[in-house]
Amino acid sequence: MAEPKGNELMDKIVSLCKRRGFIFQSSEIYGGINGFWDYGPLGAELKRNVKELWWRRMTQQRDDIVGLEATIIMHPQIWKASGHVDTFNDPMLDCKTCQGRFRADQIDEIPCPLKPSNSVSQCTGAKTPVRNFNLMFKTNVGPIESADNLAYLRPETAQAIFVQFKNVLETSRQKVPFGIAQVGKAFRNEVTPRNYTFRSREFEQMELEFFIRPDEAVEAIGGIVASGSQPSTLNPQPNWGWEAWHKYWVEARIRFYENIGLPRATLEEYWQKPEELAHYAKACVDILFKFPFGTQELEGIAARSDFDLSQHQRFSGKSMGVFDEELKAAWAKLDETKKTELSQRYFEARFKYLTKMGEPADKAEKQAREDVAGLAKGNYIPHVIEPSAGVDRLILALICNAYAEDQAPDEKGKLESRVVMRFHPRIAPIKVAVFPLLKNRPELLNKAKEVRDLLRPHMTVFYDEAGAIGRRYRRQDEAGTPFGVTIDFDTLGEKPELLNTVTLRDRDSMKQDRIKIDELVPLLLEKIR
Ligand code: GAP
Repeated sequence: MAEPKGNELMDKIVSLCKRRGFIFQSSEIYGGINGFWDYGPLGAELKRNVKELWWRRMTQQRDDIVGLEATIIMHPQIWKASGHVDTFNDPMLDCKTCQGRFRADQIDEIPCPLKPSNSVSQCTGAKTPVRNFNLMFKTNVGPIESADNLAYLRPETAQAIFVQFKNVLETSRQKVPFGIAQVGKAFRNEVTPRNYTFRSREFEQMELEFFIRPDEAVEAIGGIVASGSQPSTLNPQPNWGWEAWHKYWVEARIRFYENIGLPRATLEEYWQKPEELAHYAKACVDILFKFPFGTQELEGIAARSDFDLSQHQRFSGKSMGVFDEELKAAWAKLDETKKTELSQRYFEARFKYLTKMGEPADKAEKQAREDVAGLAKGNYIPHVIEPSAGVDRLILALICNAYAEDQAPDEKGKLESRVVMRFHPRIAPIKVAVFPLLKNRPELLNKAKEVRDLLRPHMTVFYDEAGAIGRRYRRQDEAGTPFGVTIDFDTLGEKPELLNTVTLRDRDSMKQDRIKIDELVPLLLEKIR
């Protein structure tokens, strides 16, 4: 069957998502609200599975990452320190023809509804000058609306991790290098939400801040810093500087995506060019997915230096530094040349950061000298590598990747077309469907319910007795359920040698195997873990 292309494919996906209860428009009965989406029964399970897997892989299955769950509304100074109040803007302009508001950098791609849809640059010649528009949603805390109690819905989850850094460090017995992970809602008043859920105004992020030693500390301790050009390995080494850690996280994150069913061929790495980097970032890699509407960002992995913690130290007046016993001991043993060289490099980095942030040169120099003196005693502000993923974009990628059309035999063996969502069993919303062959035979229903109850403590099960068995398979194919268990007369012992066996159908190959009921749980668990 010919592969549906681009927009046509996206239309089919959007329609399936609504029809099968993956994704609904928020507030639909009131006409919807642009940039907001709800997840229906299947979407909610899918999303939960993805977030849980990320959390398990990031925190529970590692010694060096712990979790955090912070509030959405935080002290407004946080957003001043982070730079969001002053610089989290999109350039915006209005189209004078349709009165629509667009992002200035996307104006050529967005159709003005009042112009013919095939015109290339639909708003040309009729637009207002470009203005900056801050993307943070504002609110007021408490009953009085005033500038004094202005607050923001967080535009990213990351800042909470930075501001709780010391509390986590002190309570978790972690030492640098270590990470703090968080999953949660973020809000951005996007000028032009689009591409279905891809750019929403309310979305979820899965963010990790992985804190590492500054390269000068790594070098003082180990003599050398492993260069980023060495072959990437997933086995962290004590002499890794920021480049090696950055490469590690790019590779680790790509493996995560592969592990939940996105083939590497659907992903691309985009290494930002120096001129594209945020001023504090040393490097940033975007992991892109080949969506039907184009190859677009799923996740950004940024090496953010010590910028964020330094900013919160300056704005809050509270130390964000750590004491590193190993560094203190190693520094004392360095020869003078090495001490001078490392001190000079550290001084330059701190001085550059402080002056860029507007500190007067004399004050910056004094502070940077203090920072160097601190380094010699084992104190520094950790640097950070930040893998930051969007849950909703990942869900959309998984849905797009899973969508397939092929041919399947109906009851009479005649081929008919089917839509099948080929989710990896690890993330599939429903893991197994249980079907009694016929609805009007109580003994089949009772046995099927027994099997359902046997499986239910271990996985999501869907019990379905309504309609022809072929129709029931088709419904589960569309839901992406990887396994179907059918209870028939042989299960009840019509052929004595098949007593207490069922057929296990594989969604993708449509192959059916006869399995003992007793073996179902271990067999399925192995496939879904
Ligand atoms: N803390 C870094 C940060 O927030 P970002 O590149 O702005 O970086 C990270 O966002 C990820 O969050 C993106 O790669 C994307 O997956 C997701 N994301 C950002 N804006 C989004 C939006 N409007 N709708 C859906 N997901 C979004």
